[in-house]
Amino acid sequence: MNDTTEGLSPTESLSGGPRRRIVAADFRRVMGQFASGVTIVSTRDGGRDFGATASAFTSLSLDPPMVLACLFRGAATEEAIRRTGRFGISILRDDQGAVAECFASRHPDRFSTVDYRYGEAGVPLIKDALAHVECRVSEAVKGGTHTVFLGSVHSAVRYDGRPLAYFAGAFGHFLVGDDAAVYSAIRAMILVDGLPPGSPLSVPHLVESLSAEPAAVLAALKRLTAEKRVARDPQGEYVVGGLDLRTALDMISASRTIEVGVAELTVGWVEESDLTSLARLADQPCRAFPRSADGAGPDFHERLVALAGNPRLLNHYRELSTVTAHTGIGPGEAPGDSDHAAIVTGYRDGNLSTVISAIDRHARRLREAWQRCAAG
Ligand SMILES: Cc1cc2nc3c(=O)[nH]c(=O)nc-3n(C[C@H](O)[C@H](O)[C@H](O)COP(=O)(O)O)c2cc1C
Repeated sequence: MNDTTEGLSPTESLSGGPRRRIVAADFRRVMGQFASGVTIVSTRDGGRDFGATASAFTSLSLDPPMVLACLFRGAATEEAIRRTGRFGISILRDDQGAVAECFASRHPDRFSTVDYRYGEAGVPLIKDALAHVECRVSEAVKGGTHTVFLGSVHSAVRYDGRPLAYFAGAFGHFLVGDDAAVYSAIRAMILVDGLPPGSPLSVPHLVESLSAEPAAVLAALKRLTAEKRVARDPQGEYVVGGLDLRTALDMISASRTIEVGVAELTVGWVEESDLTSLARLADQPCRAFPRSADGAGPDFHERLVALAGNPRLLNHYRELSTVTAHTGIGPGEAPGDSDHAAIVTGYRDGNLSTVISAIDRHARRLREAWQRCAAG
């Protein structure tokens, strides 16, 4: 299959030739599509340590073991490596984005900002990196603005962890397929199953229950912590994060918007069988009450949103609806289920404004319950 039959149009297309030059900034953007790891290339010369961030690094040969690194000609580290004929590589870990930034900056003393040690060949190596490689320069080749250093490997050490990734000018995490599945599974436990805030998320337990690698579970928990879905308790253990009032109110408002949108689409168009099942659920306790232990089963609100027949929308709504499961609001304070009945009546009568008023009333009561809860 060629480009035209695939039907994909490029977002950017460059072509050079005798009378046309590819502009460096444009070329950098295209090359930014190549995801890589990030290293610090370093050496020690005249009692001074040199080091620079470099993504232009790759292994070259296994036997003999060789690597290559490309550095801008005339840059301090490049010149120092040409003088000493040796260099070290520290492959950075996913929490070392700040190290990469510092070693690409004009910081007057980059090594004062990190822990490092000297390797067997005497070059500085960044501590807590994923791997260290020390090399002797076997060839230094000029390539455009850069020098390509071919290095014969003197020593190589590997540590556990995940790499710092670099893509399109930004640092990020590298997720293997399994990681993505583990992340989704833990996220669903919190958002769809509605685990209450403070519930422990024990790493060994998750490893066992999800049949996952510990590194995948840890990567997922870190990512969920950054998203504020997960927190650390005072002992440093991972727990389900709590929602602050502002986020909860935003989520209630988003849920309400979805419900109103669904009502606008569906009032007057709903099958009798759908109305019957909605009416059946109207009598059941609203999930504005803390969810009971057996809390499974369809919820009135989810059934309402399902009327739109859009599974993606329903999934998003489910994530928002767990706000109600996290309130800690006592049954006496929960919004009245009479709103559910009013919604069903509006649907039966084909009366959109009755439905929307009931949805609004319900959201308002939920907001008030949250505000009371926050006020203690
Ligand atoms: C993610 C990232 C990757 C980089 N990769 C390279 C590289 O492969 N080669 C290079 O010469 N410069 C690269 N740089 C830029 C250098 O780190 C930067 O120019 C640094 O200041 C050079 O230090 P020096 O002048 O002390 O040698 C990179 C910068 C960043 C942020």
